[in-house]
Amino acid sequence: MAIITAPSQADVSGLTARLYAHDIDDLGFVAGHTRVLALDPEAYAAGEALFDAIAGSMDTRRYELVTLAAALGVGSGHCRLAHGRKSLDLFGRDQLVRIARDYETAGLSPAEVEMMRFAEKVGRSAATMTDADSERLRDAGFADREIVQIALAAAARNYLSRAIQALAIPVDPSPLDDELQRALLAGIDGRDDQPSGGYRAPLDRAHRHALAWLDSVPTRRVAPARTADEIAVDVDAPLPDEGADATAVVDRLAALAEPGLMAIGSGRFFGWVMGGTLPAALAADWLVSAWDQNGAMRFATPATAAIEQVTGRWIVELLGLPEGSAVGFTTGGTTANFVGLAAGRKAVLDAVGWDLDALGLSGSPRITVLAGDERHASVDLALRYLGLGAPVTVAADDQGRIRPDALKEALDTVDGPVIVCLQAGNLHSGAFDPMAESIAAAHAKGAWVHVDGAFGLWAAASPRFADLVRGIEGADSWATDAHKTLNVPYDCGVAIVARPEAVRGVFGLHTSYIIHDDQAPADPYEKVPEMSRRARELPVWAALASLGRSGTVALVDRLAENARALADGLSRLPGVEVLNDVVFTQVSLSFGSDDRTRRVSERVMADGEVWMSGSHWRGRDILRISVSNWTTGADDVERSVAAVARALEAEA
Ligand SMILES: Cc1ncc(COP(=O)(O)O)c(C=O)c1O
Repeated sequence: MAIITAPSQADVSGLTARLYAHDIDDLGFVAGHTRVLALDPEAYAAGEALFDAIAGSMDTRRYELVTLAAALGVGSGHCRLAHGRKSLDLFGRDQLVRIARDYETAGLSPAEVEMMRFAEKVGRSAATMTDADSERLRDAGFADREIVQIALAAAARNYLSRAIQALAIPVDPSPLDDELQRALLAGIDGRDDQPSGGYRAPLDRAHRHALAWLDSVPTRRVAPARTADEIAVDVDAPLPDEGADATAVVDRLAALAEPGLMAIGSGRFFGWVMGGTLPAALAADWLVSAWDQNGAMRFATPATAAIEQVTGRWIVELLGLPEGSAVGFTTGGTTANFVGLAAGRKAVLDAVGWDLDALGLSGSPRITVLAGDERHASVDLALRYLGLGAPVTVAADDQGRIRPDALKEALDTVDGPVIVCLQAGNLHSGAFDPMAESIAAAHAKGAWVHVDGAFGLWAAASPRFADLVRGIEGADSWATDAHKTLNVPYDCGVAIVARPEAVRGVFGLHTSYIIHDDQAPADPYEKVPEMSRRARELPVWAALASLGRSGTVALVDRLAENARALADGLSRLPGVEVLNDVVFTQVSLSFGSDDRTRRVSERVMADGEVWMSGSHWRGRDILRISVSNWTTGADDVERSVAAVARALEAEA
């Protein structure tokens, strides 16, 4: 506290002198915070009276425990040391060390532990507290008045601790022994003496950076402030010879990255097809990293495998797909397409008696892959990975839907193994290929039918879109993303195959060291291309558990409603043309000539209030909107329309 000058004892009189005298009686000296805060003696005295009133109404042991926990939550070394000192006689030195290190395992009663958890949370994140927190105290046996007292004691600690922190008042020397001081301050300095060792401090920092980022997202510019080239200059440095403190590394990473981050989680981000992240899914994703389970084998990581099984079942039920389908969790839509097409490749070759595993593709019967003119490029990529070459393209209509008559014609011209790849959700129009008719035609020729539903497959969850997806359940495999419409953090795709043996036949590798039970449900690794992988199904489980069926349907419906509202609002602006039938979450816009569309688009992007991405569709340059974020609301829609209006005006 170099800024504020507090008067010395000799220079004070009246109420200030009485406050000083009180400290001398109590501590033997005037505490640093008393000297500073008593610059407003009436307010400080009123605060002290509040503490006296709260403490006086409670059992002392309870008051001190609450205070220690609240001080821990708020990160106040001052209050931890001061109340460590006051608690010494209540608990004895050894138990106090244990309480200071970890009150959960310090031999306190369950009610006391519950009370300290509550108080710590008041200090750390009171804004996140709900009835459930009070409910836990009630379940632990506290009466309503006691719950209020605990809340008041913890909240009053916030008041004093925060004032002390805000004014950077130095900690007074403490008479407590070193070990006890370290234990009391450890929670403040990153708690490195805890069993979690070096994790706590960097994780605390990461938590803080994460919340700062998330808090900024609703109001910040959507666009990054700096380009990749500019960030590269900031980051550019030789690999250091010596390592650095983990906490400092986290801080540096946050500082380096922040200016170059796109606010993809913003309600006004409509670029490409990128979802935001639901709170439960994000929190679960953190746990996935902390638990660091290699989610490949049931035997090794039973929890993640069991949760994967249930999550897969939920998805299949929600989307109305065949019961018992295999569900694997991939890095994204591209790899989910790869899984479905890989299962199809093997199945259609098996059907003509070609042993793909033994003989490979060289010399195999040629597989014809038929896909609509407007399939997503990731289908071509997956086919390339699979050695199947480019698909034979089938004409699409003005919304990008495969034309069933053209598909039938194409099917009539092919001999041998066939895979048909359909699309649920066109990138530009949101349109869906006519499923029932196309699937029936393909199956009549013995084809494997794969559906790329990276964002659109979720439409199958909502009765509102029943007509768009009718018949989709008749396909053989489906690919979707959880990181798009479902709003699960990157990276997370879902590959669904109707016949589990078809996908297990492709990915079910058995070696001497993999522990596997043929009679048990498939191991997670048997449904995806990787062996070792993170347990990416857990955030999906958390997303679905937090939304429930109705919440998932509401999410899908809301995205589409917002797309509709954006299209309506924008089409009312002069010179704006909505090029597609807005049937789902996508809107494609033209602002006149290609040149003008590009110029207006550049202005929209430079403005930064909103992000949409440019593209080229049906021979025209366009600005494309994909509504994929759960947070998008009416205000975002309004602000986005206004941002485009500004760009149009500037271009007029
Ligand atoms: C229709 C469609 N299929 C596939 C993909 C690829 O998905 P991912 O980027 O998750 O690999 C996308 C991405 O936008 C898509 O829109």
